[in-house]
Amino acid sequence: MKYSIIGRDGLKVSKIALGTWSFGSVNAWGESNIDNLKKVVDYALDNGVNFIDTAEGYGKSEEILGKLLKGYEREDIVLATKIGGKVFEYNVVKERLNASLKRLKTKYVDLYQIHWPKMKHLWHKEDMTKKDYFDIYESMKRLREEGLIRYGGVSNFRLHHLKEFPEDAFNHIVTNQVPYSLLWRFYDVEGVANFCKEKEMKFLAYSPLAQGLLTGKFRPGTSPLYPTQRSNVLFNEPVFSNAWKVVEIVTEIAKDLDVTPAQVALKWVIEQDIIASAIVGTRKIEHLKENIEAVDINIPRKYLERLNEVSLEFQSMFPTGMEMWIGNNTPDTLAKIGIRK
Ligand SMILES: NC(=O)c1ccc[n+]([C@@H]2O[C@H](COP(=O)([O-])OP(=O)(O)OC[C@H]3O[C@@H](n4cnc5c(N)ncnc54)[C@H](OP(=O)(O)O)[C@@H]3O)[C@@H](O)[C@H]2O)c1
Repeated sequence: MKYSIIGRDGLKVSKIALGTWSFGSVNAWGESNIDNLKKVVDYALDNGVNFIDTAEGYGKSEEILGKLLKGYEREDIVLATKIGGKVFEYNVVKERLNASLKRLKTKYVDLYQIHWPKMKHLWHKEDMTKKDYFDIYESMKRLREEGLIRYGGVSNFRLHHLKEFPEDAFNHIVTNQVPYSLLWRFYDVEGVANFCKEKEMKFLAYSPLAQGLLTGKFRPGTSPLYPTQRSNVLFNEPVFSNAWKVVEIVTEIAKDLDVTPAQVALKWVIEQDIIASAIVGTRKIEHLKENIEAVDINIPRKYLERLNEVSLEFQSMFPTGMEMWIGNNTPDTLAKIGIRK
């Protein structure tokens, strides 16, 4: 395993992190078997993965992790969770954090993330206000001082959101967890690299396999398995067929290198300077093993460039500023959003 450092005093996180949305969120991912999850967590921690991501919004995921991590040395694990909702005042955040700590059976989390900013065009009534940014800053600062969190983070914050935080906020908020893969490049925008360098902030890539699409196991015409994939625009036409062209190139490169498409897709993500870690969701040991091994594969520069090129070309079919989950993915809705065929 290889590791990255996040935060100014240095929190060492594995380049492949274990995402646990599917562990507890039955609505999104169907039922899980706890004995199997225990094996997955044990395998991860025994094989160099020290970074685990969850959220209060992932059904029973926090509670399940609380049980599965029993017996491990707490300081050997970097545990990240998230707070949802739209109120970021210290008292509210602290109360919600305490509930997470109770479920996780721990005295602190290493990374406490704001799950989503308020966005009027999505599911909120309003956008972020000046007060919201200040509240997040103050909450993270105070929770760190109290030793309840080691660092603060945000998630799904665009560059224009990040720019609204007061300067001192970046002494406390050190990561932005965002969708980032060969099939989702919306956070790879002009200015973001400089901004992160200046603020010493790193991004964490979520859905780095585009919820399984980049593994090559879903072809156009095959149905996605889970509700979250069905509501993901990538699994719906006319996007799916275009995404498949990228997957075909990933598959060709994988064959040439004698590795799997998932490994090529993950290695491409962790090769990006801005990304500290790729958070991959899996409930299968054989997949986890494959994902961990991706860290050590070598993709020659010419292939990395080709991947970059095809992924940017694919992205040009979308209008800027889109989110991955649309919910109602009918061809009519997608056309109205401005997705090109
Ligand atoms: N901050 C946010 O708003 C946000 C949003 C989404 C996700 N996340 C975080 O990111 C994590 C990962 O994202 P995600 O689950 O949406 O997408 P993902 O990691 O890109 O894909 C997960 C899917 O890929 C499959 N998979 C994993 N490794 C595989 C392999 N080697 N070969 C074949 N299939 C493989 C998994 O199935 P198997 O179980 O069968 O392996 C699962 O269906 C989540 O668990 C969560 O922690 C955060």
